[in-house]
Amino acid sequence: MYTLLEAQNLIEKHIQNLSLPDTPPELYEPVEYILPLGGKRIRPALVILACDLYAGAVESALIPAVAIEIFHNFTLVHDDIMDRSDIRRGQPTVHVKYNENIAILSGDVMSILASRLINQAPGVVLNTVHDVFTKTAMEVCEGQQMDMNFEDQLTVSGEEYMRMIELKTAVLIAASLKIGAILGGASQTDANDLYEFGRNLGIAFQLQDDLLDTYGDQKIMGKQPGTDIVDNKKTFLMLTALENSSPDQKKELLHWLTNKYFEKEEKIASVTHIFNDLGIKELTEVRIREYYDKALENLSRLNKPEDRKTELYNFASYLMTRKK
Ligand code: IPE
Ligand code: IPE
Ligand code: MG
Ligand code: MG
Ligand code: MG
Repeated sequence: MYTLLEAQNLIEKHIQNLSLPDTPPELYEPVEYILPLGGKRIRPALVILACDLYAGAVESALIPAVAIEIFHNFTLVHDDIMDRSDIRRGQPTVHVKYNENIAILSGDVMSILASRLINQAPGVVLNTVHDVFTKTAMEVCEGQQMDMNFEDQLTVSGEEYMRMIELKTAVLIAASLKIGAILGGASQTDANDLYEFGRNLGIAFQLQDDLLDTYGDQKIMGKQPGTDIVDNKKTFLMLTALENSSPDQKKELLHWLTNKYFEKEEKIASVTHIFNDLGIKELTEVRIREYYDKALENLSRLNKPEDRKTELYNFASYLMTRKK
């Protein structure tokens, strides 16, 4: 059985050795820049672990796993344009290092390459895998559009927020497990149970990502803290603060959310100060724990001996304590 680390290493090796066309260089160089830059490789690792759980082998999962990682990297390149983020994986983002048009098109080509690689899934499961992949890819775009819409909305409900993070983040993590399971020959029921585990874990993952955006360490995360505050993102932190604030605090939050002209550092410090006063970090941690527990519950119900699930349990606890 593959351990999480072995699965991550397997993917890493493939990513580092990937050979792409080289002309025009403006199109492919950014792909060669961002892909090997050291992501956590959690989605492809999940494809591998889920496949291994059913097939006791992972060969059929390797290319689809790499495809999912490439798709994820495409979403990051476009996300960084949309979020005006300058740093990713500790280095300049693609649109900052090159330019926006280059980031758009190299993102496009990554998305198309991902589809081509998904098409290499074994014939018996190809239709199913392709269908899960394309459905998920559309959902990620839907979630990203909701995320952008919310920047300009002063009121976003808890339900709307949850749906948004489910779409932009959780479904790809869920689909990675489902696709791995299908490739391994799992039953429809088991594949769906793993999807549900991944969905809840993915929601916890995005809540954690929101938390790290305010409270994380740039050197460890490789991303610039405070970007969500600058962008008026309706994160769990911001929505919870709006909900729990005193009239004065609310007035100040609304000031920062509506004022177009501000010093970034001042805005980040003032909003973080209100978050601190309201104990938002702790409230977010409680919510993360809730979804983490739901995920563990899903996993414990999965119809497999407990000792076969060890790596997935390890995976879940690794995610919950992550600092990047
Ligand atoms: C970042 O994903 C984008 C989100 C969905 C929150 P990861 O945190 O998996 O980024 P990498 O691939 O490890 O860099
Ligand atoms: C990104 O969410 C989700 C996708 C890329 C689909 P975020 O915008 O919060 O991700 P980071 O924090 O920039 O990695
Ligand atoms: Mg974003
Ligand atoms: Mg972003
Ligand atoms: Mg984020």
